[in-house]
Amino acid sequence: MIRLKNEKQINGIRTSCKLLSAMYRELMPLVKPGVQTLDLDRWVRDWIKKAGGRPAFLGYGPRKNPYPAAICISINNEVIHGIPGKRKILEGDLVSLDCGIDLGGFISDQAVTVEAGRVAPELHALNMATRECLYQGIAAVKAGDRLLQIARAVSARAKLGNYGVVHQFCGHGVGLELHEDPQVPNYPHGPNPRMSRGMVIAIEPMVNLGTADVEILQDGWTVVTADDRPSAHWEHTVAIFEDRAEILTDPLE
Ligand code: MF3
Ligand code: CO
Repeated sequence: MIRLKNEKQINGIRTSCKLLSAMYRELMPLVKPGVQTLDLDRWVRDWIKKAGGRPAFLGYGPRKNPYPAAICISINNEVIHGIPGKRKILEGDLVSLDCGIDLGGFISDQAVTVEAGRVAPELHALNMATRECLYQGIAAVKAGDRLLQIARAVSARAKLGNYGVVHQFCGHGVGLELHEDPQVPNYPHGPNPRMSRGMVIAIEPMVNLGTADVEILQDGWTVVTADDRPSAHWEHTVAIFEDRAEILTDPLE
């Protein structure tokens, strides 16, 4: 069931989104060679707490294996849901950050991919292409049109660079819970409802340098590429109005 949001709810979600983007603006410069990912998670927890929010990812998921951190940090061949730990970021790493905030019951969701120091040209190209996939997807958002238009736009951009678009994971409705209906694929498949006023969705292309196929590690969370080649991930929370779409999170470029 798709929960449509009223103006008051969208205002609350927007405030949560602006807070999340403000956090990222301080966090992104901290993502550099030598930093332990666990330290970034601690920083994020403190920041969100001080701001009066709650990390939306912490404790999310199955009761027997809830997500144990405030932020997902996925490096190189890790696509999404990388768990912060002792690992240190190295020069040339492609570091995907994904985080959400619950602010008074309103949930935001945003992901960016940061280049640690100087990265190989093909990694930089992958990163920029993935961000373009996101914006092409957002440009396809229109009340009255079908949702899979987003997937077609994302996939068309990815195809230009011969990249693999992950289809085992997708975007989603968001705002009152972290994952709501509808699913928002990056590759056209599955249900294809009409987009409508009051929908709030997270659009989040995951794009691989090689194969689109992914696997989940033994920790039950970390998603990696099947061929171990690098991946990038960008995400915005987007609200749909009668005559326009609004990106509720801020560009972080
Ligand atoms: N940010 C992810 C998404 O965009 C959700 C992360 S799952 C969690 O859908 F367990 F880490 F929260
Ligand atoms: Co998301």
